[in-house]
Amino acid sequence: MTTFKLLLMTFIGIIAADKYTKLYNLVCDTSPKWAENVTCDLKVMGRNVVFANMEMDVKRPLNNISVHFQIFKFYNQFRPFIVDVSFSVCDVLSKKSESNFYINSMLRILSKFSNAVKCPLNGHLYARNLEIKYQYFKVFMEEGKYRLNFYFFEGYRLNSVGNATIYVEIFQKYIRPTKKNNSDNKSVVAI
Ligand SMILES: *[C@@H]1O[C@H](CO)[C@@H](O)[C@H](O)[C@H]1NC(C)=O
Ligand SMILES: *[C@@H]1O[C@H](CO)[C@@H](O)[C@H](O)[C@H]1NC(C)=O
Ligand SMILES: *[C@@H]1O[C@H](CO)[C@@H](O)[C@H](O)[C@H]1NC(C)=O
Ligand SMILES: *[C@@H]1O[C@H](CO)[C@@H](O)[C@H](O)[C@H]1NC(C)=O
Ligand SMILES: *[C@@H]1O[C@H](CO)[C@@H](O)[C@H](O)[C@H]1NC(C)=O
Repeated sequence: MTTFKLLLMTFIGIIAADKYTKLYNLVCDTSPKWAENVTCDLKVMGRNVVFANMEMDVKRPLNNISVHFQIFKFYNQFRPFIVDVSFSVCDVLSKKSESNFYINSMLRILSKFSNAVKCPLNGHLYARNLEIKYQYFKVFMEEGKYRLNFYFFEGYRLNSVGNATIYVEIFQKYIRPTKKNNSDNKSVVAI
C-alpha cells in the first residue's frame, strides 16, 4: 500500500479493513500408475467462501512420499514468490524430520481437512472443505493472485504421483465509515 493510496482513501473516506482470500481455481493431475477415481473441485459456499475438495484412491501404498511446494505471485505472469521447499511428507508426519514454519502450517492445515496424516498413505485419501484462509499466509502476503504448486513424488524425483495446483486471490476489504463524526476519531488502519 502506497502512502499516496492511503491518503487518497482517507480523503474519500474509505478505510482499508482486513484482507480475505478466495480460491478461484484448482487443478489436479495424478498418475494412473498411483491413483484412481480422482475428483478435484471447488465448492462455492458463499459470496467470499470457496472450499476445495479432493478425493482419490491410491492403488499402491505410498511409503516414501515427498512434496515440492512452490508459491507463485501474479505480476504480468506468475513468478516464483518466496516459498520453494521440498520435504519428505512421511518423515514430517512421523515427526522424524525438523520442520520449519511453512511445513508446520501446512501440517496443521492438512490434519484439519485431510485423512492423509500417517504413512504409508493408502486406500481412499481426501482433503475436504479445505479453505485457504488469509490467516495462513498473513505473515508474508499482500493483495494479488497467487498460484500454489504441490508436486508429489514417491521415492525419487522422477516418480511423479500427482500434482495439485491451487489458485488463490487475496483481496483487501474496503469499507466506507457509516457516519462522519466531527470529533475526528481517526480509525484508519495502518498498513
Ligand atoms: C507433475 O508436474 C511435473 C513437473 O511439471 C511433471 O513432470 C509431472 O509429469 C507431473 N505429474 C503428473 C502426474 O501429471
Ligand atoms: C475405483 O472405484 C471403483 C468403483 O467404485 C472401485 O471398484 C475401485 O476399486 C476403485 N479403485 C481403487 C484403486 O480403489
Ligand atoms: C525416500 O526417498 C528419498 C528421495 O525423495 C530417497 O533419498 C530415500 O533413499 C528414500 N528412502 C527409502 C527408504 O526408500
Ligand atoms: C461523535 O463522537 C462523539 C464522541 O465519540 C459522540 O459523543 C458523538 O455523539 C458523535 N456524534 C455523532 C454525530 O455520531
Ligand atoms: C475512537 O474509536 C475507537 C474505536 O472505534 C473507540 O474505541 C474510541 O472510544 C473512540 N474514541 C473517541 C474519543 O470517541
